[in-house]
Amino acid sequence: MTSDVTSDIVPEIKRMVLDLCKQRKWDWSSHIEGVVHYAKLLAEKLGADVEICEVSAWLHDIYKLKDSKQKDHHIMGADEAVKILEEFNYPSDKISQVKHCILTHSSDKVYIPQSKEAKIIASADALSLLDEFLNLAHYVYNIKGYSVEEGRKELVKRYRGYLFKLNYVPEAKEMAKPKADALIEFLGNEVGG
Ligand SMILES: [Fe+2]
Ligand SMILES: [Fe+2]
Repeated sequence: MTSDVTSDIVPEIKRMVLDLCKQRKWDWSSHIEGVVHYAKLLAEKLGADVEICEVSAWLHDIYKLKDSKQKDHHIMGADEAVKILEEFNYPSDKISQVKHCILTHSSDKVYIPQSKEAKIIASADALSLLDEFLNLAHYVYNIKGYSVEEGRKELVKRYRGYLFKLNYVPEAKEMAKPKADALIEFLGNEVGG
């Protein structure tokens, strides 16, 4: 089902998330805004619930924005999003849908996206991370200080996980193809398999 009216809470959530982004050293806003962009685009294209996708996209990395070292950010973030949305008196059935999207957006094989909206969020995350290639390369080489080969292996590891998530939505995989092909060209075949 497609929502025709974007919920009033979206501007509030957006403001809160962008404020948190400003407090981080890493440029999180471009990644989050990219996920929102692709999530809305795919939701409209596939007839999914645009509001659920947009709210989930804004909140999907909420725990990383609060604690960048948190590995289980999808699990912690799902609970954090529930708390935030309850404070906004968001309807409980919609909260459950957003929670599922956030819990299943990472590459954790224990939590697999089931709903159309959750598959869209996982894919939108991957599409945005493809756009962030230079930022990620900057992170591994300049911030982590990896050698050329160590950095390549780290990028392969990360992008293998991201590209896998595109399998949930064939339309997203198609959109990603030119950039995925370029990654394989630069990083090697193992990134795609
Ligand atoms: Fe994430
Ligand atoms: Fe993300």
